[in-house]
Amino acid sequence: MRNVCIVGYGAVGPVHAAALEGIENVRLYAVCDINPQKLEICRTQYGCKVFSDFDEMLLDTSIDAVHICTPHYLHKEMAVKALSAGKAVVLEKPVGINLTEIEELHTISKEQTKLPLCVMMQNRTNACVVKLKERIESRDVGALQGIIANLNWHRDESYYAQDAWRGKWQTEGGGLLINQAVHLVDLMLYFGGPVKNFESEIHRWGVTGIEVEDTASAIVQFENGAKGIFHATNCYVTDEAFQVELRFEKAHFRYADGLLYEILDGDVRVLAKDEKLQIGKSYWGCGHQTVIRNFYEGKDYPGIEDAYGAMKFVFEIYDKKKSGI
Ligand SMILES: NC(=O)c1ccc[n+]([C@@H]2O[C@H](COP(=O)([O-])OP(=O)(O)OC[C@H]3O[C@@H](n4cnc5c(N)ncnc54)[C@H](O)[C@@H]3O)[C@@H](O)[C@H]2O)c1
Repeated sequence: MRNVCIVGYGAVGPVHAAALEGIENVRLYAVCDINPQKLEICRTQYGCKVFSDFDEMLLDTSIDAVHICTPHYLHKEMAVKALSAGKAVVLEKPVGINLTEIEELHTISKEQTKLPLCVMMQNRTNACVVKLKERIESRDVGALQGIIANLNWHRDESYYAQDAWRGKWQTEGGGLLINQAVHLVDLMLYFGGPVKNFESEIHRWGVTGIEVEDTASAIVQFENGAKGIFHATNCYVTDEAFQVELRFEKAHFRYADGLLYEILDGDVRVLAKDEKLQIGKSYWGCGHQTVIRNFYEGKDYPGIEDAYGAMKFVFEIYDKKKSGI
């Protein structure tokens, strides 16, 4: 039996707990959180051990794996400590709040501890994304010409007021891009491949009282010659499903509303449909369970290398314009 400890039982911690259910020889053994109410909920619901101190939790030699679901500024330090204590790690996004943190963590996991480290970039496992990859690889679609990636969500002052770590460069590491839109950046790069160059802008247009951006756009030139148009904002009235449009020489796909469409001579055909989430927010996608199951069942799972492209892209945008937004 492999014993798991979830660290941070806020919004996404329970999604990890639910994802562990039904995986053979894996169990939720403990939860670690600084909030005693959260610990009480876990003790009652799961009958698991609880810890209020991360370092103390790491001393428990029965724990094999640690899921880090805490605020962004704690990710790298907690992941390094957990790996150094001999635990496998499942790390929520983002890997870190700057590229140096990500590179350090990569060295520690790959060269020093050589322990498994999974990064929660779950949208690559969505049924539509898997189908789109398959479809592109199995039929001659010609060269990729363009990608449009579009996200319109709602995060207002009350969202940022919930937790002191949100909305600040030092603790969240950024705003819309590093937190909400990073999965969309990842999908754009997953399909588009390496970036040759790009122009970008970030703004704080709709949310007051925060340091970070709520809106971002970019025009991307990919090495393969394709063009990407990226737009994301937290200033919309609700959380709409994100959209990705891909134009190849001989095919045209649209991923929207959790459906994958192929558009041929004006006719629209549905190729795939994402599963509905049982727990958590619909716009998180349904991939947590797949990624966590794959991780424990020895199948492919996303690592730092997979998250690196999107993180680098986000940090390059921040480097171009962080102050004065
Ligand atoms: N992959 C996804 O789709 C997805 C979705 C939501 C959140 N996330 C990520 O998950 C992480 C957590 O987000 P959230 O929305 O659940 O945040 P949250 O603020 O709701 O929860 C964080 C939890 O961590 C606890 N915590 C804080 N400091 C701690 C410490 N030192 N030791 C132990 N526990 C501590 C808090 O008490 C809280 O319960 C973030 O990195 C976020 O970006 C990912």
